[in-house]
Amino acid sequence: MSQTQKPLILTGAKPSGELTLGNYLGAIKNWAVMLEEYECFFPIVDLHAITVRYVPADLRRWTYQCLAQYIACGLDPARSHIFLQSHVTGHAELSWVLSCLTPVGDLHRMTQFKEKSARPGASVNAGLLYYPVLMAADILLYNADRVPVGEDQKQHLELARNLAQRFNQTYSETFKVPEPFIGKTGGRIMSLQDPSKKMSKSEDNPGEAVLLLDPPEVIRKKILSAVTDSGKEVRRSDDKPGISNLLTIFSAVTGRPIEKIEDEFAGAGYGTFKKALADAVIAELEPVQERYRGIIEDKAYMHGVLKQGVDVAQARAYKTLSKVFRKAGFVDRIR
Ligand code: TYM
Repeated sequence: MSQTQKPLILTGAKPSGELTLGNYLGAIKNWAVMLEEYECFFPIVDLHAITVRYVPADLRRWTYQCLAQYIACGLDPARSHIFLQSHVTGHAELSWVLSCLTPVGDLHRMTQFKEKSARPGASVNAGLLYYPVLMAADILLYNADRVPVGEDQKQHLELARNLAQRFNQTYSETFKVPEPFIGKTGGRIMSLQDPSKKMSKSEDNPGEAVLLLDPPEVIRKKILSAVTDSGKEVRRSDDKPGISNLLTIFSAVTGRPIEKIEDEFAGAGYGTFKKALADAVIAELEPVQERYRGIIEDKAYMHGVLKQGVDVAQARAYKTLSKVFRKAGFVDRIR
């Protein structure tokens, strides 16, 4: 089957901090096994990273780190298109057209917007509110069939689906309605210190998240000091959110069902279980970190990957954008 006949997936991460074990288990690890079956577009969605206060030098560093980690996690640039969102003309333009079809009330209802704008000292800028429209543009610009994400992005994807339908109804059939694709385990990895909230890049307390680049001793320390629940049984249960989260991580890392892991640690206690979990996470991440170290040093290689990716992405984006502009009634560009 030729590349163009394969169904298309598009998904990405924003370089707003260092990638976490949540990003890896909920997203990137699953993307790496899709390269054969799908034509894969993996932008690093840097335009999304500036909706919160940030330091430009950090953004640049996190962008390169994200790229090197994509590749180190198995996103083979020879079999996928890896590029920076800000390098492709079209994401911001399409998001403008889509924003004119988006009721503002829909954006105010987005859980992530509500959470982020409620943080103390948050700058509630228009970008934070319009973020999900830009995300819809990322997806629709490539007419993606499927979008593999963690559970936290489900609501944003629903908006992308609505916008595809609304554009098609308002103008004429143009966009595919993208399907979300959420892995069976690992779709929602929670904070190690507060299992009621998701593990995220931008936490102030470093103990909350294992970072993909954390050295083994740091990973061990974070896992051993993860909050657990009363009792000592290693069992998944709604009233044991801490241990349930650790079981989810164990299962997502090893690919083994949670019931099997519960059986293995029956009567063993939390300490033994956490030590085994730390070993499993370290064993999973060590080869990724090893590959990462080789890639991050090689700027020329990384630039080559981005160039190759952007050429394909830009061609595809232009095609969609000119169609959209024509349907919206804009006069063709004079060549
Ligand atoms: P971002 O950068 O927050 O996260 C990247 C991916 O990691 C998943 N993820 C998690 N999965 C499980 N448990 C967690 N604790 C966890 N934390 C993050 C996210 O679901 C995501 O799949 N808005 C997106 C980026 C984006 C995008 C897109 C994604 C912009 N445009 C188009 C798909 C398609 C975001 O902020 O992801």
